[in-house]
Amino acid sequence: DWEMGSFADDAIKAVRRKVGSGKVLCALSGGVDSSVAAVLLSKAVGKQLTCVFVDHGLLRKNEGDEVEAVFGPEGNYDLNFIRVNAQKRFYDRLSGISEPEEKRKIIGEEFIRVFEEQAKKIGAVDFLVQGTIYPDVIESGFGKSAVIKSHHNVGGLPDHVEFKEIIEPLRMLFKDEVRKTGLALGIPEYLVFRQPFPGPGLGVRIVGEVTEEKVKIVQDADAIYREEIAAAMEAGLIPKSGREGTLGQYFAALTNMRSVGVMGDFRTYDYAVALRAVFTSDFMTAEAAQLPWEVIGKVTTRIINEVKHVNRVLYDCTGKPPGTIEFE
Ligand code: XMP
Repeated sequence: DWEMGSFADDAIKAVRRKVGSGKVLCALSGGVDSSVAAVLLSKAVGKQLTCVFVDHGLLRKNEGDEVEAVFGPEGNYDLNFIRVNAQKRFYDRLSGISEPEEKRKIIGEEFIRVFEEQAKKIGAVDFLVQGTIYPDVIESGFGKSAVIKSHHNVGGLPDHVEFKEIIEPLRMLFKDEVRKTGLALGIPEYLVFRQPFPGPGLGVRIVGEVTEEKVKIVQDADAIYREEIAAAMEAGLIPKSGREGTLGQYFAALTNMRSVGVMGDFRTYDYAVALRAVFTSDFMTAEAAQLPWEVIGKVTTRIINEVKHVNRVLYDCTGKPPGTIEFE
């Protein structure tokens, strides 16, 4: 894409001029916006950039390793990469907490804390990179009515990190332009066309209290679901994502419900996993997707057979409104 290629070239030059010999810090989530911002900065200032990636233990299966493979020392980019394995800290703080907003608050706060500790270790930072995009700019400009959910975006501003200036290289771009810029910068397609993933991660896809065991259950179920959807897309049963009119988001969530089942000759009393898939253009409203029954059936069989402590799979038919896309 010529236009976004030239945008990227100009943005790289502008950043280089602004940063000079300064030190730059970036919170990397592995999501599209922060990834594109990080690569752009890396092309502009190389090792003057440090990316901090906090693994809060609420990521999708293998996601931490995938982010490390791309951005870490064995990866493709010239930057300093720090991965913080903070899983246990988050699980400890979430223990016993089941109220959704309280969970969101804890995850957001702990995230900032971990990030600030790293920033302190790195020492004097001149610039902080944010993956803010144009819709974020508009959204924060208007008085929003009721707070449905307190959003936590990776890279939310830390209070105790001193820096001269914020750099927001994507703040004039819409999502599709961010993706095109990512492609122009040579970022792999699977990363550029990733579905959105909330800052609080699986914390809002596990209804009620989060435990390490529940995280494992939802990670495994979700991985199976995504694998089968990818296969169904390959087979032409579902239109491929990343294009207009295709699935906006699909994931497995763990309900807090256990129910009775039978496995072989034995009674089971285990969790129910919920599958969700939605069509959406702007994530403000969404429509539940009518996935082919054969796909849902296959996913169900695999989850029951392969994931321990699950004996029931439910399909979420709710649109937004009245549902939200995430469960909490
Ligand atoms: P809801 O659940 O509010 O989600 O219908 C709408 C879109 O926003 C994503 N989402 C978040 N993204 N931080 C984020 O960066 C958050 O705290 C957060 N909560 C929800 C959700 O995945 C969907 O795409």
